[in-house]
Amino acid sequence: MKKLKVKLDSHSYEIHIGSAVLGHVGHRLKEAKLAGRVVIITNPIVKELYGNALKQSLTRDGFEAIILEVPDGEEQKSLETAGRLYHELTGHYAERTTPILALGGGVIGDLTGFVAATYMRGVPLVQIPTTLLAQVDSSIGGKVAVNHGQLKNKIGAFYQPRLVITDIDTLKTLPATEFANGLAEVIKSAVIRDKDFFAYLEKNLDRIKSLDTSLLEETVFRSAKIKTEVVEQDEKDLGLRSILNYGHTIGHAIESTSDFKIEHGEAVAIGMVAAGKISNQMGMLKQNELNRLKCLIEKAGLPTEIPGLKTKRLIQAMEHDKKVLKGKIRFVLAKSIGTVFITDEVTPTVIEQALVD
Ligand SMILES: NC(=O)c1ccc[n+]([C@@H]2O[C@H](COP(=O)([O-])OP(=O)(O)OC[C@H]3O[C@@H](n4cnc5c(N)ncnc54)[C@H](O)[C@@H]3O)[C@@H](O)[C@H]2O)c1
Repeated sequence: MKKLKVKLDSHSYEIHIGSAVLGHVGHRLKEAKLAGRVVIITNPIVKELYGNALKQSLTRDGFEAIILEVPDGEEQKSLETAGRLYHELTGHYAERTTPILALGGGVIGDLTGFVAATYMRGVPLVQIPTTLLAQVDSSIGGKVAVNHGQLKNKIGAFYQPRLVITDIDTLKTLPATEFANGLAEVIKSAVIRDKDFFAYLEKNLDRIKSLDTSLLEETVFRSAKIKTEVVEQDEKDLGLRSILNYGHTIGHAIESTSDFKIEHGEAVAIGMVAAGKISNQMGMLKQNELNRLKCLIEKAGLPTEIPGLKTKRLIQAMEHDKKVLKGKIRFVLAKSIGTVFITDEVTPTVIEQALVD
C-alpha cells in the first residue's frame, strides 16, 4: 500500500492506494476520526460489484452503513438527483457529522461530493474511486459539481474530501474503454510534469494494461502524486491548475462536435497529440518527442487522429469553450515531455494546421 498526503491550507488529507484496501475502509475511517453511521452513495453496477461487500466490512468494524443508489450515467450529475439524495439523507436522519462515502467513478464522485459539500452546509466526504480516471484525477483536489442542462460542471464547489481510499483491484472489472479513458489522464499527467514517469509508461504500458498489481499501483500512485502536487500549489484553480487541461481544449471541442459520440478519453488523446503538434510547430516539443507521445497513446489503445470532423466546427467549439479569455483560445502546450506552459498566443492558422495534419 502507498500513501500520499495532500497538503492544503484549508485542510490536508491522505490518499491510500493499494490492492485489497476496500476491506480496511472501516479502519481508515477510524484513523481519520470518522465514526458512527456512514452513508455510501453508489450506482447499481458498482453496488453489485463492491458496495454490498463494503457495507458488510463496515458493519463488521462496528459502523452502521446505509447505501443510497443513483442510476448509472453522466445525466445523474444533476440538481434533480442531488435533491433526491438530500431527501433520502434527511429521511435517514443523516447529521452534520455523518460521513458520506462516494463509491464509484467520476460521476458518483462529483455528484456525491456536491451533495456532501451542500447538505447541512457540509458533511465529511470520503472518496472511494473505482475507475482509473477517478483514481488518478477526479477523486483528488476537491472539485465537486453537477451539470446544468448541457453545461458541464456549472454548479459546484471546491470541497476537499477528508480521505481518499483507492483500491486498484476494482480496476479488474472496469470495461476496457473506461480503462483507456483513464490511461489518457495518466499519460497527460506524465506529459505535464514528469518525463521519467513518461519513460516508465513507455517501458511498462503493456504490463500495466494487463493489470500487473505492482505496476498498476505504482502508476496510479505516480499519476495521483502529480495531481496532488498541482492541487497543492493552486487549490482554487487560479493559475497552475489549468495545466491539468493539457489536451482538453481540443479534446472538449472534439467531444461536443461529435455530439459526445467520441469518448472523453479518446477526445483528450487526440487533443494531446494536436496540442503536441502545435507545440512542435511553434518551435518547442521536438519531433521525436511528438512521435513518442503519439506512439504511447496508440499503445494505450487510444486514437491520435481527428475522425472526420470539420476543422471549422472544431474551432467554433473551442471559441465557445470556457477557457476562452478576451476572445482568445487558451492552450496548454508542451515545451518538452514533462514541461508545459499556458498560452493564449496560438494563431488560428497554427491551430488549423494542427487539426488538418
Ligand atoms: N472533479 C474532477 O476534478 C474531475 C476530473 C475529471 C473528470 N471528472 C468527471 O468525472 C466524470 C467521468 O468519470 P468516469 O470516467 O470515472 O466515468 P463514470 O463515473 O461514468 O464511470 C464509467 C463507467 O464505469 C462504471 N464503473 C465504475 N467503476 C467500475 C468498476 N470498478 N468496474 C466496472 N464498472 C465500473 C460506471 O458505472 C460507469 O458505467 C465526468 O462527469 C467528469 O466531468 C471530474
